[in-house]
Amino acid sequence: MRTLLITGGAGFIGSHVVRLFVNKYPQYKVINLDKLTYAGNLANLKDVEDKANYKFVRMDICDFEGISKLMRDEQVDGIIHLAAESHVDRSIKDPLSFAQTNVMGTLSLLQAAKLYWNGKLKTENGERHLFYHISTDEVYGALELTHPEGVEPPFSTKASSGKHHLAYGDKFFTEELKYQPHSPYSAAKASSDHFVRAFHDTYGLPTVITNCSNNYGPYQFPEKLIPLFINNIRHRKPLPVYGKGENVRDWLYVEDHARAIDLVFHEGMIGETYNIGGFNEWKNIDLIKVLIHTVDRLLGRPEGADLDLITYVTDRAGHDLRYAIDSTKLQRELGWEPSLQFEEGIEKTARWYLENQDWLDNVTSGDYLRYYEEMYSDR
Ligand code: NAD
Ligand code: TYD
Repeated sequence: MRTLLITGGAGFIGSHVVRLFVNKYPQYKVINLDKLTYAGNLANLKDVEDKANYKFVRMDICDFEGISKLMRDEQVDGIIHLAAESHVDRSIKDPLSFAQTNVMGTLSLLQAAKLYWNGKLKTENGERHLFYHISTDEVYGALELTHPEGVEPPFSTKASSGKHHLAYGDKFFTEELKYQPHSPYSAAKASSDHFVRAFHDTYGLPTVITNCSNNYGPYQFPEKLIPLFINNIRHRKPLPVYGKGENVRDWLYVEDHARAIDLVFHEGMIGETYNIGGFNEWKNIDLIKVLIHTVDRLLGRPEGADLDLITYVTDRAGHDLRYAIDSTKLQRELGWEPSLQFEEGIEKTARWYLENQDWLDNVTSGDYLRYYEEMYSDR
């Protein structure tokens, strides 16, 4: 029996990670620790809440005493840390709460783990202790769009893994790149990554970090591009495209991220960093058009009927131009591969949101709306 603490398990990615671990490892006790901010929703875990190996604890990761007591009482021997404030637009409005949760919260967890594990690398059962920190590719900053030999991007290129894929530039985020975050969100995540490495290098805390590209899939809070736009297309509401829609993001289906987390948790090398991404770059406007066609088709509307919902709006401040992850290390060393093609993943995702309108209505009403209005009212 091992006891695993997953923070932020009621959020988007965390709920997929909790589900995977609870179902796949009945011999583990999985404790989901979450503050339940506007982004945390226990409805994301309805299908596992009654399982014998699952427990929910409502707590703030900044509560050092509470975390320390929980670790002792439950004899926690592994941590997968996902809890964070995660939306760039919110971080621009309210940077302090991002520093508080993402930096101070991570530090409080690190300190509690360090004191409780007290230099031990293994448990009495011989399992390893592990503090696994989930981070983002946004810590590396932004890449350029490049035109090799005058070819308009995207162009076909070969990853260091040997596979061909479409890219908007000739540079990629690799694990060796220096951190150059631009937004308060990515700056806070970068800072938390530095603290995790500092605890490994200074105190020998057994840590591992992964930096993943943009995720999409079920249970994502509808302030992020894909669920927001699916919901708006359904209700024929405008689709606010920042700037000219030319920014490029690298998209990964959330269950592929959760599988990578499972692999790294069990087989990742202590002290290492792994990038996670599916070599799947899309210019926002092209992705939005695919989304409109897919949702229209699923709703029985003529495909493309809702293209006129596209509304260009003022660009996000400091909007990073291009993210592109090179996940060769993870693929080569641990044998991970993304399982879904993007079109397949988008169809699956759109279908899920359309079939789960109750979930969407629930998170876009009541408390959430009040919070949202407060957040976005001019202050
Ligand atoms: P999310 O916003 O959907 O969920 C965050 C969860 O953390 C929520 O359940 C929230 O209640 C909880 N939380 C927030 N503050 C807390 C606090 N102080 N104490 C305890 N719980 C708290 O986020 P997500 O998109 O699922 O991202 C999860 C993690 O993955 C984050 O660390 C994020 O930086 C990272 N990440 C996200 C993406 C992405 O595309 N969404 C990509 C790469 C990495
Ligand atoms: P988002 O889902 O917020 O993720 P991130 O900022 O972490 O990449 O945004 C994805 C891209 O979509 C990003 O380039 C900003 C853009 N975007 C819009 O154009 N309009 C929107 O309403 C949102 C939420 C995002």
